[in-house]
Amino acid sequence: MSEESAGLLSHRKAEHVKVVLGQNVEGRYRYWEDIQLVHNALPEVDFSEVDPSVVLLGKPLKAPIIITGMTGGYPGAVTINSNLARAAADVGVAMGVGSERAAILKGQYPESYSCVAGFAVPLKFANIGAPQIIPQAPGDRVVGLDDARRAMELIGADALAVHLNFLQEMVQPEGDRRARGCLDQIAALAHELPVLAKETGAGLSRSVGERLRAAGVKVFDVSGTGGTSFAAVEHHRAEAQGALREARVGKIFWDWGIPSPVAVRELVPLGLPVVASGGVRSGLDVARALALGATAAGTAGGVLRAAATSYESTRAELEQIVHELRVAMFLTGSRTVADLRRARYVVTGETRQWLAPTP
Ligand SMILES: Cc1cc2nc3c(=O)[nH]c(=O)nc-3n(C[C@H](O)[C@H](O)[C@H](O)COP(=O)(O)O)c2cc1C
Repeated sequence: MSEESAGLLSHRKAEHVKVVLGQNVEGRYRYWEDIQLVHNALPEVDFSEVDPSVVLLGKPLKAPIIITGMTGGYPGAVTINSNLARAAADVGVAMGVGSERAAILKGQYPESYSCVAGFAVPLKFANIGAPQIIPQAPGDRVVGLDDARRAMELIGADALAVHLNFLQEMVQPEGDRRARGCLDQIAALAHELPVLAKETGAGLSRSVGERLRAAGVKVFDVSGTGGTSFAAVEHHRAEAQGALREARVGKIFWDWGIPSPVAVRELVPLGLPVVASGGVRSGLDVARALALGATAAGTAGGVLRAAATSYESTRAELEQIVHELRVAMFLTGSRTVADLRRARYVVTGETRQWLAPTP
């Protein structure tokens, strides 16, 4: 990794949470609202029978929901990750932690990650960034296979999430801008470990999915445009630092990327499980994602405020999302997630234009 002081890394992870909680960082357009499930006035199923459970990577989840990786690496992250893990365990959903490079390469605040290890979360994802698996400068220490294994052990993970975040790196004044060689390194990791490849809010396309599948990745998390915009997050940070070029790039590229529902439609035909994330804010959004063929839906920005508040708020938010998903299942006559994946839907608005064949 490029020479960064331990303090800078830790400070940055703390700032991300602060900026997301305190500033406008949402994408301009709610793509999920363009997916309209068709109402079924004769569901022929009782609400009490509706069962949203799924199996992902061999692990049973009570509901098809993942809290996608956000944080760790600074003292305040202990509370957030503990609240998330306790609530995920109690509700029966999956979770990931944020990038573990601080703990793995710098030995920083490992307890802000390992605090999740004691909770019986049914499926846990460790997390590293693609820019850190290749050298950013000559002589850099990169995250290799042993480091990735340690990242998994630290939290008791079932799989490793590798995040692709080059939009964010371009807006970060101190961003890592080398990208050559990531795919080969992902393949090397995926040869030994179960790997989920994720974006961080700019989406995965079919051709990227094809290359990742050939590299041996087991699950995709699309993390598309329409939710938390990392161009926006880094715009605010760059502005505060007086980095005018990056601040302006962040504003211009605020909504850059592939809308989440479009990315789901692009990746489902590739045959691997797809996690739909980026702008998922309700159980209805989860239902929309499953109707498009996703196996589960992920949210980060949707639960951060609750996680920064308390375990009780986090659990209540997750239970509310599961309840809304079950309502959508009932009203489409779907007893199971497999039924919901066959539910009828109509695509409207900008998302319809994205999905229309280019003339
Ligand atoms: C405060 C914050 C920090 C994040 N840090 C990471 C990270 O370290 N690693 C990662 O893979 N994704 C990270 N993400 C991205 C999320 O996992 C997710 O892909 C993205 O926020 C889009 O989902 P959303 O619209 O539900 O927030 C972070 C998101 C937030 C809100």
